[in-house]
Amino acid sequence: MVLIVHHVYPFSALKLILFITTLFTLSDCYDPLDPNGNISITFDINNRVDNGYLATVTLDNYHQYRHVDKPGWKLGWTWANNEVIWSMSGAIVTDRGDCSSYSGSQMPHSCKKDPIIVDIAPDVTQNRSDGCCRGGRLSARAIDYFNSFSSFEFEVRNVGGKENSLGQAPNNVTFMAPGPGYTCSPFMLTDPSVSLDLGGQRQVPVAKTWKSTCTYSSFLANKSPVCCVSLSTFYNPIITPCRNCTCGGCREADKNTLSCIRPGDPLGGSNDENNIIECTDHMCPIRVHWHIKNNYMNQWRVKLTISNYNFNRNYSNWNVLIQHPGFNKKATTYSFNSTKLSTLGIQDDGVALFWGIDYYNSELMHSDKDRVGSVTTEVLMEKDPSSFTLQNGWAFPRRIYFNGENCDMPLPDTFPMLPNGSSSLRPNCLTFNLSLICLLLILLVLK
Ligand SMILES: *[C@@H]1O[C@H](CO)[C@@H](O)[C@H](O)[C@H]1NC(C)=O
Ligand SMILES: *[C@@H]1O[C@H](CO)[C@@H](O)[C@H](O)[C@H]1NC(C)=O
Ligand SMILES: *[C@@H]1O[C@H](CO)[C@@H](O)[C@H](O)[C@H]1NC(C)=O
Ligand SMILES: *[C@@H]1O[C@H](CO)[C@@H](O)[C@H](O)[C@H]1NC(C)=O
Ligand SMILES: *[C@@H]1O[C@H](CO)[C@@H](O)[C@H](O)[C@H]1NC(C)=O
Ligand SMILES: *[C@@H]1O[C@H](CO)[C@@H](O)[C@H](O)[C@H]1NC(C)=O
Ligand SMILES: *[C@@H]1O[C@H](CO)[C@@H](O)[C@H](O)[C@H]1NC(C)=O
Repeated sequence: MVLIVHHVYPFSALKLILFITTLFTLSDCYDPLDPNGNISITFDINNRVDNGYLATVTLDNYHQYRHVDKPGWKLGWTWANNEVIWSMSGAIVTDRGDCSSYSGSQMPHSCKKDPIIVDIAPDVTQNRSDGCCRGGRLSARAIDYFNSFSSFEFEVRNVGGKENSLGQAPNNVTFMAPGPGYTCSPFMLTDPSVSLDLGGQRQVPVAKTWKSTCTYSSFLANKSPVCCVSLSTFYNPIITPCRNCTCGGCREADKNTLSCIRPGDPLGGSNDENNIIECTDHMCPIRVHWHIKNNYMNQWRVKLTISNYNFNRNYSNWNVLIQHPGFNKKATTYSFNSTKLSTLGIQDDGVALFWGIDYYNSELMHSDKDRVGSVTTEVLMEKDPSSFTLQNGWAFPRRIYFNGENCDMPLPDTFPMLPNGSSSLRPNCLTFNLSLICLLLILLVLK
């Protein structure tokens, strides 16, 4: 680690602190840029019916920049007793289960003890319900609020005795998106949800409400990082690439889990269709490139490129989040949609969220033999004369996320340097002192 401090020497101590905070956030599922992000599951019992009830379940994606993409979510739980789902609209249970104790013209929709529920497609016309049928997708809240929640309705029977006719909450809630990553709390009794009646004049609470909160952990979702960052500038021809082997594939042990294709190799032939990427030094499916393109009197311009090295995977409704102090000032984005996110307690940095423009670049295409799938934009940022500098790596991003996944940054000692002759590459006394403090911090962390 002493070596790193030594190499970092020409750069500001701030970078080092950021590097340390990155180490911390990587080891934790708490995301400081989206501290309240979660998916919440609300189970409302609306009415009592004969030996059962009518219920509505609503899924709310509170993440600002993490969405659930096709093929969509799968929700599961384990019934506390011998409940059956008599009917359902706005979603279906994937398995009817053993309904042999029922006979007659109408059979229950599902008798499974642990039903798995999936959404139905937007174009299905039968058995719809209010707010249903998004094909399992839940948009990120900061991008598309009105598609960030989804609900379905069902009738539960065989709940138990009369005194118990509003049932017991199901156990073991699971939320898949559609892979792992989410951990859900047990259903807890909360204040009943309230709906507005008579044009909003009258509040009508439901009979009972249970809530579960599902939190995301990147460690549960991915075996290795999925994204890395590379950097370049107009003032130095050297490009700082992604770190080698960032996303695995270099050790012998990784070779089985990740397959990659070199130019000229025939496509196909692998069993795992989802995992075929182009062979690169970093082995990441996604790379975000930040190029400092121009330095004007009052503005500066960055070119941002997102590349998809998968051969078999498109990313629809992708998003990229970038933390950089420059986003505190006005920024104009030419070829992506963008917004600023107000954040809690993130130093003095601004945070900007970018996503594709519908029918233009909202789909990040897969690579093929001839070219890497990519989307790109230029961003023109206003300068704050008191802070803007090309020195000390200030103009590079502090943190980048792709679809909510942290992108691995190159180490500060590999950042493109200003050419020799520009003044004050020497650190001043203050930053030197800070470096010493950082060194101590690192030693403490490593203990
Ligand atoms: C889930 O997110 C909502 C909205 O941000 C928040 O009010 C709630 O406290 C969160 N729940 C948990 C357990 O963090
Ligand atoms: C609609 O729901 C009813 C009752 O659950 C079921 O019998 C029917 O098959 C469903 N129709 C479709 C198209 O899913
Ligand atoms: C929850 O799931 C675990 C493992 O699938 C199972 O062993 C346990 O019995 C379940 N708990 C309940 C209350 O169903
Ligand atoms: C990364 O890999 C490339 C080619 O495999 C190699 O030339 C380069 O030296 C490596 N970089 C580092 C820092 O190991
Ligand atoms: C990606 O999108 C293109 C264009 O819409 C489509 O032709 C292709 O089948 C898609 N690939 C995958 C793996 O979904
Ligand atoms: C993205 O930008 C386009 C064009 O400016 C706009 O029509 C569209 O509504 C935006 N999309 C979202 C989700 O805000
Ligand atoms: C700057 O000077 C050092 C030695 O003084 C040299 O090693 C380095 O390559 C130079 N950098 C550039 C960008 O010219």
